[in-house]
Amino acid sequence: MTLAFEISNLKKTYRSKITNQQKTALGGINLDIEQGSFFGLLGPNGAGKSTMINIIAGLVIKTSGRVLVNGFDLDNDPINLKKSIGIVPQEVVIDPFFNVRQCLEYYAGYFGVRKKDRRTDEILNALNLTDKADFNPRRLSGGMKRRLLIAKALVHNPQILILDEPTAGVDVELRTQLWDYVKELNRKGTTILLTTHYLEEAQELCDKIAIINHGKIIANDTKNNLLKNFGTKNIVLEFSDKISQIPSQILNFDPQISESGNIIKFTPKNDTHNIGEIVAGIQASGLNITNISTEEADLEDIFKKLVSG
Ligand SMILES: Nc1ncnc2c1ncn2[C@@H]1O[C@H](COP(=O)(O)OP(=O)(O)O)[C@@H](O)[C@H]1O
Ligand SMILES: [Mg+2]
Repeated sequence: MTLAFEISNLKKTYRSKITNQQKTALGGINLDIEQGSFFGLLGPNGAGKSTMINIIAGLVIKTSGRVLVNGFDLDNDPINLKKSIGIVPQEVVIDPFFNVRQCLEYYAGYFGVRKKDRRTDEILNALNLTDKADFNPRRLSGGMKRRLLIAKALVHNPQILILDEPTAGVDVELRTQLWDYVKELNRKGTTILLTTHYLEEAQELCDKIAIINHGKIIANDTKNNLLKNFGTKNIVLEFSDKISQIPSQILNFDPQISESGNIIKFTPKNDTHNIGEIVAGIQASGLNITNISTEEADLEDIFKKLVSG
């Protein structure tokens, strides 16, 4: 099956016209994304996410490398590439000359969608914009403007939807609504490429995740593998009394003692830490354990670990 994205050795260096200084935003990105995926591209500010997406959208010119979207080469077939994708850019740009409905009609026309094939009402309804159809976009709130951007990205029924930080500045209720709709699109077969720095969102929504830092991909796997391979579970032991000295039997397990002095935490490394051994060691030392619990690592922990490393 044709891949949704096939990106090889993609590089981008910005050059300031004023100072003539160069800035490498992408240092050779290789990324394949399968059709039907709900893919998360995560990374700190300035990592290069928007640069990559804007290159795909035809808004930024790459320095070198190859970009295939839906099998269409950005260099040779940009028109078919554009028809395959709907893009919701990070920057909110609104056309002030049309009302909401006219905006969508205009965009559909731009993509050559015939009147009878247009889905303007359906899209307005899906994004809760029906009662705003006659509004000038300038009158819309920030969250509604973003909904309009998403609506615009959908007029030509694209196979791939690209969302660059779509929920920045959007309230919680709207976020939930938006994700319900995007999830539904994905269920029906639309490939989703999402950048976000809300890691909880990515953890809930995405099936595959790549982490980008300083213009390079530093991790790329299924969400479950990332959580399994990079996520460590902490073991937390509570004691009845303050511990004055860490028992020698458990020194090998890198114990971290709490400020209160009655909790010891262990972060297991590569399965070499055996809870049984730890507990046996403590019992041998005569300390009294009152509680054992574990702390699950989440995407945020993994992200921090990878990005700081
Ligand atoms: N038009 C531009 N001119 C010069 N530098 C840019 C331009 N756009 C982005 N950059 C730089 O490229 C790097 C990547 O930015 P960007 O792709 O926006 O990152 P992200 O979307 O991950 O926050 C940053 O260091 C940013 O300052
Ligand atoms: Mg960005």
